[in-house]
Amino acid sequence: MEFSIKNVNAAATQSDCLVVGVYEAKVLSEAAQEIDRASKGMISKLLADGDMDGKLEATLMLHHVPGLTSSRLLLVGLGKEADFAEKQYAKAVRASIKALEKSGALDATTCLAQLPVKALSAQRKVAYLSEAALDASYKFAAIKRKEEQASPKKGIAKLTINVAVSEVSAAETGLADGQALAAGVSLAKDLGNLPPNVCTPSYLAEQALALGKTHQFNVEVLERDALKKLGMGSFLGVAQGSEEPPKFIIMQHLKGKKEQKPVVLVGKGITFDTGGISLKPGSEMDEMKYDMCGAASVLGTFKAIAAMNLPLNVIGVIPTCENMPDGRATRPGDVLTSMSGLTIEVLNTDAEGRLILCDALTYVERFEPSAVIDVATLTGACVIALGHHASGLFSNNDALAAELLQAGEVALDRAWHMPMWEDYQSLLDSNFADMANIGGRAAGSITAACFLARFAKKYDWAHLDVAGTAWKSGKEKGGTGRPVPLLTEFLVQRANQLKV
Ligand code: BES
Ligand code: MN
Ligand code: ZN
Repeated sequence: MEFSIKNVNAAATQSDCLVVGVYEAKVLSEAAQEIDRASKGMISKLLADGDMDGKLEATLMLHHVPGLTSSRLLLVGLGKEADFAEKQYAKAVRASIKALEKSGALDATTCLAQLPVKALSAQRKVAYLSEAALDASYKFAAIKRKEEQASPKKGIAKLTINVAVSEVSAAETGLADGQALAAGVSLAKDLGNLPPNVCTPSYLAEQALALGKTHQFNVEVLERDALKKLGMGSFLGVAQGSEEPPKFIIMQHLKGKKEQKPVVLVGKGITFDTGGISLKPGSEMDEMKYDMCGAASVLGTFKAIAAMNLPLNVIGVIPTCENMPDGRATRPGDVLTSMSGLTIEVLNTDAEGRLILCDALTYVERFEPSAVIDVATLTGACVIALGHHASGLFSNNDALAAELLQAGEVALDRAWHMPMWEDYQSLLDSNFADMANIGGRAAGSITAACFLARFAKKYDWAHLDVAGTAWKSGKEKGGTGRPVPLLTEFLVQRANQLKV
């Protein structure tokens, strides 16, 4: 989708579709009032007739409205004017894009960025709008028969964002931010959606190398031999049941001052999780292709911050492998020695995420990080606790947790702070090693975090469990790109803090 920022007279602009907002109780937005005047009261009449109630996300497409130069007019419901804030604004934008995608319009002019939104600058409004528009129009290039692929896709190719003259320059900046974030979100979705026979550990490594080449940051990929030398017995214990070789990816976006300590992002990259010898039940097992969404979000965030040329030092680390049952696979009862030297009794081979992450958490000590944030589709228990709305947030530092929570609020990609009290640690006791890899059914997402915390003692650390938020099931099955918006916002704020 191509964007342009303009100040136009809505009624006189020529496009396939003009988009204006209508609040509940028949209250017209400013642009809608303009259209109403140009069309001699057409919108007021429609509202009076009850064809449009202005409820949030409601849409009504009108054709050849007299007095307008555009061939279509899309009315978008905004809900109650008094309640209209970021979330409602983003929802209205998404609803408008969905309606546009269904229509035959190829280009559109939207007046939604002119709506007053509490505490939102023009830059932010346009960033949200462009990001939401790109997100809502995302389509996975599905692997279908050639004939089907050849059929031209419908959809908006050009979107003009109408803003006040005084806001054009802020809007341009917002557009660039929105596009950068959307590119990152789209990459994360694509990687998640790819089938596991395509998106292997080697594929992820190639993608990282390609990204580094495009955006000129350094990428290194460690192979099995190097990992053995480092002593990553825990990571390799998971990888040993698969024919696919494991990869350990290190990306370095070093655009801050030399002496500035980096933020490190760590992403779980299990490209398929069968559970291993503790095999998962068959139903919906296909969704375990999404078990690399943590890794995908780190790659997506790197794409976004690279496109923004963010002046910050950020290092991304991705341990990636498959979790497969095999003659050589790790057994329940096996004891693995992690890179830290701590030994782990594997009581369930399906609790593999923490086993690959713990070695990555030890590895990143060498960067003397200012903060480490790991992202993982770690536990089904997190989905039970929080559902699909919030990611689980765990941290050994309350200030860092607060920063991430706030970034999630602003980015409309929320997390919820979960407890990680010392009391839970004893659930991981083992008679045969320093710890077990599972803590039983109770507090499953917390004991998983407690396990990781044992390897993250040397720095400020946070863990995002995105098992419920990284993808959707059912009819809308697909990656969401979360938590790329949260992470990107967090990094942008860190960069801004360092500037002042
Ligand atoms: N990748 C899964 C977690 C998961 C399951 C995410 C379902 C989303 C939906 C993880 O590797 C796993 O299998 N965790 C186990 C841990 C248990 C064995 C302690 C789980 O959550 O059941
Ligand atoms: Mn598992
Ligand atoms: Zn897993």
